[in-house]
Amino acid sequence: MKALGGGDVIVVGGGIIGGSIAWRLAQAGAAVTLLDASVFGGEASWAGAGMLAPGGEFVSRSRWAEFALESRALYPAFVAELEGETGVGIDYRRCGAVEIARTEAEWQDLLARRAAQAELGIRAEVTVGGLYYPDDALVDPRDVTRALRCACEKRGVRINEQTRVMAVRVTAGRADVETSGGMLSGSAAVLAAGAWSGAIPVNGADGQIAIPATFPVRGHLLGYTLEPGSVGPILRHGHTYVMHRSSGFTIAGTSSEQVGFNRELDSQIVDDIHARAAELLPRLRSAPKPTAWLGFRPATDDLAPAIGRLGDTCLWLAYGHYRNGILLAPATAARVAGEMLAR
Ligand code: GLY
Repeated sequence: MKALGGGDVIVVGGGIIGGSIAWRLAQAGAAVTLLDASVFGGEASWAGAGMLAPGGEFVSRSRWAEFALESRALYPAFVAELEGETGVGIDYRRCGAVEIARTEAEWQDLLARRAAQAELGIRAEVTVGGLYYPDDALVDPRDVTRALRCACEKRGVRINEQTRVMAVRVTAGRADVETSGGMLSGSAAVLAAGAWSGAIPVNGADGQIAIPATFPVRGHLLGYTLEPGSVGPILRHGHTYVMHRSSGFTIAGTSSEQVGFNRELDSQIVDDIHARAAELLPRLRSAPKPTAWLGFRPATDDLAPAIGRLGDTCLWLAYGHYRNGILLAPATAARVAGEMLAR
């Protein structure tokens, strides 16, 4: 088998999570090789809306709710640092979000949610028709992955695209990665392949090591071209949201389907999202026909991310971020790269 030539650290997966970890490691002077089965930033990170909104996602205390707030707090500096290193502009705005109640029962639910979220440190104010979350923000994930790729390249990360990982073999100090292009060895590795992570066999000295399984939860999104600045905060009602990029591109979501990696758009789901979104923002009814796309949220059985070192091996897991991969990228990178560098 052809040897690809190895870096000290091999990152499997070039989404926003793997890309952020590779960048942080390379900043600290590590030699990094990043592998992606298709193209850098081409899957869930490309598809994601980029809502940085713990207010819409977390109601009760959990370590992930705290981690999400930590990551949101890191975002402004993360974006500024990436822009500073690369010159690539990133559309990031703390635009706030309005969660709408349509009935008295929904309003009572929102008030209960506001009380529970106050305990977590998530601020919400009463506004006309619902609650306003002043700290919720948005980012264009495609800008982030474009900048991450540039930052990684500037820092000398070797990016091998169209390189599928078949298996990983790990001990405490050596990782051998079997890929479609040959074997690659390093002194540590990171598994950050999103919904594909759990299918990669990980072997130790005594045989296969169990890692959390993954499955894809497909989501559809629609994009409308509107006048820049014509929509204010993110609008949300249940699982429907509308958010507006600085360019005017306005995204409506979403859906959740467990259909494996089926990439065929479902026109009924597209029509349903359009109808729901137009209830939130009636001008969408007369907007030019939206474009539609889909992506695969990386889920684990308990819907919580798998982040951290695998036993006493030199493999770190960083996948399963489900609905919050874009939000959790800065904190995941800080934690994983920090632990690896400390070792
Ligand atoms: N972050 C929202 C979603 O996954 O649809």
